[in-house]
Amino acid sequence: MTEEAARGRVEKLTCQIEYHNRLYYIEATPEITDQEYDRLYRDLMDLEEAHPTLKTSHSPTLRVGGAPVAGFETVEHLHRMMSLDNTYSEEEVSTLYKRLLKNLGVNNLPVVIEPKIDGVAVSVIYRNGVLERAATRGDGRSGDEITQNIRTVDSLPLRLPEGVPGNLELRGEAYMPRALFAKMNEQRKAAGEQGFANPRNATAGTLKQLDPKIVAKRPLDLIFHGYGWLGDDAQPPFESQAGFYDLLDQAGLRKSELIWKCENIEEIIAAIRELDQKRHDLGYETDGAVMKVDSLATQRDLGATSKAPRWAVAFKFQAEQAETRIVSIEIQVGRTGALTPVANLEPVLVSGTTVSRATLHNEEEVRRKDVREGDVVIIEKAGEIIPAVVEVLHDRRKGNEQAFVMPTECPTCQTTVQRDPEIVAVRCPNFDCPDKVKRRLRHFAARGAMDIQGLGSSLVDQLVDSGLAKRISDLYKLNEAQLGSLERMGSRSIQKLLDGAEASKSQEPWRLLFGLGILHVGATSSRSLLDHFNSIDSVIMASIKELEAVDDVGAIVAKSLYDFFHDPNGSAEVGRLREAGLTFAKATPEAGSEIDASPANKEFEGTTWVITGTLSQLRDHFAELIRSRGGKVSGSVGRKTSFLLAGENAGSKLAKAEKLGVAVLNEADFEAKICDN
Ligand code: IVH
Repeated sequence: MTEEAARGRVEKLTCQIEYHNRLYYIEATPEITDQEYDRLYRDLMDLEEAHPTLKTSHSPTLRVGGAPVAGFETVEHLHRMMSLDNTYSEEEVSTLYKRLLKNLGVNNLPVVIEPKIDGVAVSVIYRNGVLERAATRGDGRSGDEITQNIRTVDSLPLRLPEGVPGNLELRGEAYMPRALFAKMNEQRKAAGEQGFANPRNATAGTLKQLDPKIVAKRPLDLIFHGYGWLGDDAQPPFESQAGFYDLLDQAGLRKSELIWKCENIEEIIAAIRELDQKRHDLGYETDGAVMKVDSLATQRDLGATSKAPRWAVAFKFQAEQAETRIVSIEIQVGRTGALTPVANLEPVLVSGTTVSRATLHNEEEVRRKDVREGDVVIIEKAGEIIPAVVEVLHDRRKGNEQAFVMPTECPTCQTTVQRDPEIVAVRCPNFDCPDKVKRRLRHFAARGAMDIQGLGSSLVDQLVDSGLAKRISDLYKLNEAQLGSLERMGSRSIQKLLDGAEASKSQEPWRLLFGLGILHVGATSSRSLLDHFNSIDSVIMASIKELEAVDDVGAIVAKSLYDFFHDPNGSAEVGRLREAGLTFAKATPEAGSEIDASPANKEFEGTTWVITGTLSQLRDHFAELIRSRGGKVSGSVGRKTSFLLAGENAGSKLAKAEKLGVAVLNEADFEAKICDN
């Protein structure tokens, strides 16, 4: 294809994709299947790859996220981003509206009522019709430049259609749709990662992500509700707030699906009540309604105070609350040993779900609120947040309420607890505490970690309660007879678990590192660590400084890793897992590792090695010697294996190598082979 023809095709594909994006994300009336859409997208990617000069700054392919940034630039807003004054009752709204009528000397003042979206404020600038810049609100005068992250929002056009003004600064809220937020959180938890407290926190965290590729995977969306700038010389192309929303429609920019036009206070109150009824069906969280004077001319006349416009006001809804009684307060021991007080409640209905437990967060919180067993309390469930006790009705006490005392011993294993002075946390320090072991095993077996088939949480509980598993490595010692002694374990379930455990031995080492459940060490840091070090043994040997040098590893993660591997419990458990035959090193070296460092002797090029048994040094030492000579190191013996380096007590791998006729070298043979070359 000529450059010219390619240019035409790129433009056509871009227009088609923009068109279908709008149908899908804005109008919810798609005309083509996902497969057809994917094909258009792939065609465009291919063309851009073949003709890189044709890639535009508004190409739909840019949504997947570019290279990570080191930090965000601070940018000044074209106009200040103000906030809103709040009202909390219908009377207040009414008083305010009447005052506006009086001050303006009118009998009638049209306003719009719309949801107050509980998201994160952003400003988005289009220049000459192309998305130019996006920024957070910051202090209202300047914020962080987050264009890369905002570009990943599928519903946001990267280019505006013909016929609408091309120079615009729009204001809106970034948010995560509730359902997608819940799904994302579930996946995070299944992978052993920490869930976000609510969609707003998740959104704020995501906008602060330095890696736009991670942002692209998060379900961000945007709704616009205002503007800051409409080009330098243009008369506004609309005369009212409602007219602005029509412009958003023409431009294919999202606005709230619920907007009321009201002419008087009765209509205003009715709209606010209706919104309160309907808000739970919206895709986003709303914590109130916003009333805005409709006429732009009147908005200009009213102006603003130093903080907020006089032509708009927020009405805050009450968070969903309910009254109930605390039956008991119990302690939950987390994977890291943190003791969390949890209130068991008389079940009560809040926002459509039955709530029977609420977190009390920590000891200090319990003391501050003076929460006791038997207390009548107000609990609150705001959106997806875990229900919390917000108020204790102290005057409803009968005198038999029991004060809560944080135990000095772990309720599960009776070990004396430790206090973490930095965060208000009390921890059970016992590495082998059965509660911690249960949670550790669940995390280890989870889909996002070692993904052990046949090992669900109730089986984990049985294994720990029966004493068959005191630690992770015990999973690899289980036999049929032991498992047969457990309740509800038939031969099929037994085999499934044994096979699952066996299969997990060849899981990638980052999964093992993550699966260990080391405090603060998530899946992403685990991957980065293995990309950098190639083996868990190298991670173990690294200094805190060396660990900190790895992407996604900060000082806290580095210290936690170091402490774990230098703790007798941690290192003993790692030793047992090594014995059990789990995979500690990546199968193939990454480009740019030691191989390039010594290009002179590539005598092992084209050979694949497997290392097994006990050697005089860590396996990784030998792996590096092999890799630096151009060889590959693999975790399992197969037909492609050229050599097996076997130390003492080599087991199944040696047997397999012998069976397949693979050359077996002991350590002395290996040394000799290296010296010969
Ligand atoms: S209009 C001059 N409309 O609430 C400010 N704001 O608490 C005019 N917000 O900073 C803002 N939903 O980020 C407006 N429908 C809505 C809104 C909304 C949420 C945010 C906005 C503002 C904050 C003030």
